[in-house]
Amino acid sequence: MSDQQAQKQAAAKAALEYVEDGMILGVGTGSTVNCLIELLPTVKLAGAVASSQVTEDKLCALGIDIVDLNFAGTLDIYIDGADEVNKHLQLIKGGGGALTREKIVAAASNQFICMVDESKSVEVLGREFPVPIEVLPQARSYVARQLAELGGEPVYREGFVTDYGNVILDTYDLDVSQPIALEQALNNIVGVVCNGIFAANQADVLLKAGSDGVTTINR
Ligand code: 5RP
Repeated sequence: MSDQQAQKQAAAKAALEYVEDGMILGVGTGSTVNCLIELLPTVKLAGAVASSQVTEDKLCALGIDIVDLNFAGTLDIYIDGADEVNKHLQLIKGGGGALTREKIVAAASNQFICMVDESKSVEVLGREFPVPIEVLPQARSYVARQLAELGGEPVYREGFVTDYGNVILDTYDLDVSQPIALEQALNNIVGVVCNGIFAANQADVLLKAGSDGVTTINR
């Protein structure tokens, strides 16, 4: 097993400590979350709200009840991974294309617990990982031109359709030094459904796994 995979498993194990019997758990998407899902049969959940169809299928396969967010009220916790995280616990997410549903479930939860391996920690967001932006299909070219005006280089994620039937523009070279302002500016472009900067609602707890174990950072 690679060091990175071992770190993902260690972070997931640390996240499991926050999960209690009887909870309706918000569950994210991605390979780190998959490590957590494997551990969930050790807890008696009342149910789970999934942040993607992929996660929903995995939870169903384990016999965990899927709850519609509209009937779940405010969730105690949402657990997910990230593509990049800075020291303020602001994130870039959406490498798996589930950013919109992830942002909704995170917003509807009291606490967002983020699990990462050490490779995800960055000084400034967006210098290496592009910002995924979910866009209504008809607005793709228009939004791409607007992103170029902001200094970005959007790349259409070909062959990928989100759970909501939209497309993704992975946008390189955006200046993400002011993440909250940029998150808002991207949301203001007509045709943008959601963007992968999680700064206005950043993580509340970061579980960062490294070669020396898992470090917990609270906001
Ligand atoms: C999916 C996401 C994931 O949280 C992010 O891509 C991290 O994935 P992984 O745990 O596989 O590294 O935002 O949309």
